[in-house]
This record gives sequence, structure tokens and C-alpha cells, in this order.
Amino acid sequence: MGANDSIFLGAHEAPGVQSVQRCDACGHDLPELDASPACPQCGGLLAIIHRAPADSMGAPASPAALQHAFMQHCCARPAGHASGVWRFESLVMPTAGAAITSHPEGNTPLLARARVSAWAGCEGLLLKHEGYNPTGSFKDRGMTVGTTQAVRTHATAVACASTGNTSAALASYAAQAGIPGLVFVPAGKVALGKMAQTLAYGATTLLVRGDFDECLRLVQQASKELGIYLLNSINPWRVEGQKTIVLEILQQLGWTVPDFIVLPAGNLGNTAAFGKALREAKALGLIAKMPRLVSVQAAGAAPFAKAFRDGFRERHRVQAETIATAIRIGDPASWDRAVRAIRDSDGLVLSVTDDEIIDAKVQIDAAGVGCEPASAASVAGVKQLVRDGVIRSGDRVVAVLTGHVLKDPGMLVELHQQRDDFAHANRPVEIDASVQAVADVIARRSASRERA
Ligand code: F0G
Repeated sequence: MGANDSIFLGAHEAPGVQSVQRCDACGHDLPELDASPACPQCGGLLAIIHRAPADSMGAPASPAALQHAFMQHCCARPAGHASGVWRFESLVMPTAGAAITSHPEGNTPLLARARVSAWAGCEGLLLKHEGYNPTGSFKDRGMTVGTTQAVRTHATAVACASTGNTSAALASYAAQAGIPGLVFVPAGKVALGKMAQTLAYGATTLLVRGDFDECLRLVQQASKELGIYLLNSINPWRVEGQKTIVLEILQQLGWTVPDFIVLPAGNLGNTAAFGKALREAKALGLIAKMPRLVSVQAAGAAPFAKAFRDGFRERHRVQAETIATAIRIGDPASWDRAVRAIRDSDGLVLSVTDDEIIDAKVQIDAAGVGCEPASAASVAGVKQLVRDGVIRSGDRVVAVLTGHVLKDPGMLVELHQQRDDFAHANRPVEIDASVQAVADVIARRSASRERA
């Protein structure tokens, strides 16, 4: 455990202050409007510690009052409060006020799809589809809060390293806020949809000759030396925004707790955010117990899964390689926080192979839902846990789909049009402009379906 194990500010701590930034390692506090990317005393990661929400008399807000307030925000105006992030503002950034930069975002669905449940062997499986966010991934939830902080601190530019989704979200929100955006991505390793978005929204895009881990080191150094506000997931406000994935799941389930929440893991920012959300929700009485968190890594990028197997005795780093480019990360930044999230929730960390990721993606896509490759790791992880007897029939499981199917069109075109060994290939058919040609194709397809 680090120096910062507090969940909320104590009654006698920092009177009159709503939120502070506190160093995970040494416990040093910074005011909420300080723009330092890390602790100026020891270099540790900063976390936001809020004062627990209170009622109008200053007494701690009851769980029922909090739930009522979240619900009222759902249909509130301006749109900032109807956002699936900002309706939880008392637990995210209570003092944001007019600075809020919101599309809005969040309000993503929990989907039940029989085909995916049957394939995974888990009847109670629900898919929390974060691909429904405005730029097509969960990153919008952290970015609306991070950008709001950039506005509040009068940042002159914002920057991130990214495997593609963070850069697309940063580019979009920076454009909305009118702040120049700078993104560092690994050259040749970003999926087409993400690159196209980043360029379209107008961020300055640096294709770094190196992997994501090198991009992250570079952006940290550059932002320090050039005074640019850093919006990677180590930014504590991004974590606050990403907590709302969990809060929204709990709200959608009527504040009942699923048995498992399963998510893909790369840099571990989301695992850390989920752990923080659950700790806070439990401390406030919003939930009676924690669901078990399951972080799923791609086998070629699985340092956290390896460490989990040895009881987190040491921190591992690997040279990452996987088809799921979003989680092609070998040296995750939010390591200690993610360890805490897994320990606090009696959680698990798994790895799944690229073939298992593709198999899961095929099922999610063919159910008409679709997701990007990294997202399918969560459903592949559910199948593994069912096979191992950890998830039992009757368990309620939420698998998070982190990104939209159109994020990685290059991979889909390759699978369906170019690869000869892909059993589920759905090849387009070029025809002459005649009804006979259409009828021939229909006849051939129904014959092959009967054979199958
Ligand atoms: N799924 C998708 C679609 C992602 O883009 C990411 C991370 C993750 C899962 C893993 O989340 O890093 O919090 O463990 N993408 C980052 C990016 C690294 O730059 O877009 P994590």
C-alpha cells in the first residue's frame, strides 16, 4: 500500500476545500488547480481525493440522496449534466462549473446478446459498449474531465502518448475547447480509424519511431520541458472521468452489484479507475460489496497477468506484440494502482491469445454489435473463466467493450477479404448489374449455408 490510501478527505482536513491532488507515493497534497503532471516532491502519481458529498445541512449525503441526484441529472439541462460523466460530477469534479467541455459523452448501453452469451457459456453476460461514445471509445469519459481541467488551468496546449484512441479523444476535445493538441503515436502501429479521426480533428500528430512505451516516456519529458498540459491516463482527472463507466453500470443495474466486471487492460488506467470508483461507491454506501474485477491482457503484452500469477511480487516489463494494437503496451504506467484495484476486489488478471481475441470478436461482430480487437479480449476472458469454472452459471457478468468496430477497419478488410485461412470470411462479391447475377449469389450463399 502507498502513502495515499484515503478514500475521501477527512472532516478536519483542508477545511473549505472540495478536492485535492494527493501523491500516491508520499502523500503530498497539491491544490486542485495545480497543473503539475506528477508529485513535485517525489515524482509519484497524483490522485484526486474529494470531500464526500454532503446534504444542504453539511451532513454526509445518504446513498438514496446521491442516487436521486444522479438520476435527476440524467434529464437535466445544459447537456453537460445529462452527460454520463457529468451527472456524477459530485464524485468527479465538483467545482467544474462553467468550465465543463462536454459533447456530451457516456450514457452507453448495457447489451444482452444471446449469441455472445452462448459462445462465452455465460447466460448472465451483459456488454457495456463504450464504443457508443462520441469518438467511439471510453477515452471520451476521461478526456471531457481532463480537457475541462486544461481549460480551468489556462493550458496553452495539451498532449498525450497513445495507441490511437486517446489521441482521437484528445484531438476532438482539444478542438472543442480551442486548445492546440499534440499527440505522440507509435509509427505504423495505429489502427486506421483512430489515425483518421486524429488528423480530422486537427491535432498535431507525431509518428514516433518506437513503441507506445517510448511515446509515453517522450511525451512526459516533452510536456515537462515545454510546459504542455499532459493528458495521459496518469493525469488524475482522466481517472475521475473513467470511474463513471463503473458508476453508470451500477446505476443501470439499479445499484445491485454484478459478480464480475471484466475489462481489457493495457496501460492499466482503466483498471485503476474502476478500482477507485468501487472503493468510493462502497465507502458511500452506494453498493454493499465489490464485484470482482477481471483485467484481461493480450498474451503478447501481458506483464500484469504474469505478475498476478506470482502474487504481484515484482513489476514486469515486456516487448509487446499483439493484433490488438490498442493494448500493445509492455510497461504499464498505472501499475501500483491497478494492483490495488485487483487486490481490493478479490480480482483476477488473465491473458488471452490473439486467436482467442479474434474468435471473440467474430462472435461480437456477427451478433451485429461489433467492437475493435482489444475490446473483444474481455469476452475472450469471460469464456476462459467459464471454462476454468471461476464464472458459474447464474453469475452476473459485465464485459466492457472499450471501442467501436470502425476503429480498426484495416484489420477487418484483411480478415474478410484477404486471408485464405479465415473460416468466417464474409467476402464481398462483384457482379454484373443484372437481377440474374443477384439471384445466382443468393442461391450460392443459401447452398453453402445448408452445407455448413
Ligand atoms: N481498450 C481500448 C480500445 C483501448 O484503446 C485501451 C487503451 C484499452 C482497452 C486499455 O486501457 O490502457 O487503461 O488499460 N488505449 C490507450 C490509448 C493506451 O492510447 O488509446 P488501459
